[in-house]
Amino acid sequence: MKVKRDDGVEDIQAVWMEDEGETVKMIDQRFLPSELKFYSAENYEEIYRAIKEMMVRGAPAIGVTAAYGIAQAEIQGEDVEEASERIRSARPTAYDLFHAVDHMLDNLERPCKSAEKYTGSVIERCREIGENGAELIKEGTNILTHCNAGALATVDFGTALAPMRIADRDGKDMHIYVDETRPRLQGARLTAWELYNEDISHSVIVDNASGHFMQRGEIDMVMVGTDRIVANGDIANKIGTYEKAVLAKENDIPFYVAAPVTTYDDSTERGKDILIENREDEEVKEINGNMITPEESDVENPAFDVTPVDYITGYITEKGIFSPSELKNMF
Ligand code: MRU
Repeated sequence: MKVKRDDGVEDIQAVWMEDEGETVKMIDQRFLPSELKFYSAENYEEIYRAIKEMMVRGAPAIGVTAAYGIAQAEIQGEDVEEASERIRSARPTAYDLFHAVDHMLDNLERPCKSAEKYTGSVIERCREIGENGAELIKEGTNILTHCNAGALATVDFGTALAPMRIADRDGKDMHIYVDETRPRLQGARLTAWELYNEDISHSVIVDNASGHFMQRGEIDMVMVGTDRIVANGDIANKIGTYEKAVLAKENDIPFYVAAPVTTYDDSTERGKDILIENREDEEVKEINGNMITPEESDVENPAFDVTPVDYITGYITEKGIFSPSELKNMF
């Protein structure tokens, strides 16, 4: 991913491995966009912490970090079963986490090589998602996106942001409406930062403004990523995604979900069976350490919601773009 720095533009991955697998490095996403800081995880407990505390986040990037963590544990002579259980427990909703851990447990003979191969395949899948999805973007298209499904969430390219990157590379003009995405502001902090670095035209809007722009005909399509697609086509994604899908249907706007096959969980039948992560009250009660609610107020803080298949126009994957019924056939 391109990152503008004082001395020019640099190409950086969101997560990578150093010292022959002894260290896993990542952009610490908690500090963006004001500071570009890096975190080094030196053992699997630090990998667990990096995922849980969201230094790294976004389903495919969580998977890659987990794959590196398993490789690291194996190289360091740790109990890999114990390491994988710990890493699996970091976050419950993103399917890529479980997919990556299982993949590594099946490919432990050359741990570094396996982890790098896994990462390479994630990057390549995202590039293909970009190529496929870019066909949906015409000159002048206005797109709404929610949360961050960009390179930060996938190591490179992104899922929902990949088609925008490729369309931009192909010289298409477009405009991206970026939901701020409370409570952790992945849209305002991370998606806007990625689009700024790529010089892609965008406006950050507050979460409750998207209906207004849809009603005025200013949004042509919605593109989001997902943490899990289940067998009937329902998806789980960042809290608020469901509202966008309902609003899109009400306003006759196509709603696309972009994801690699590593996000498909065909062992879960329906969206209501997906375990939804609940996070700490502080994420809602505080902004930058300042209380914005009475200290005594109770809070609910689900990190994801489920969008039923009926609201989804199509799934943009590395294998092509599928309607809900085509996707079911793939399962
Ligand atoms: O809680 P987060 O920031 O990990 O949630 C991320 C999302 O909801 C993304 O949309 C999803 O993981 C897809 S990332 C390509």
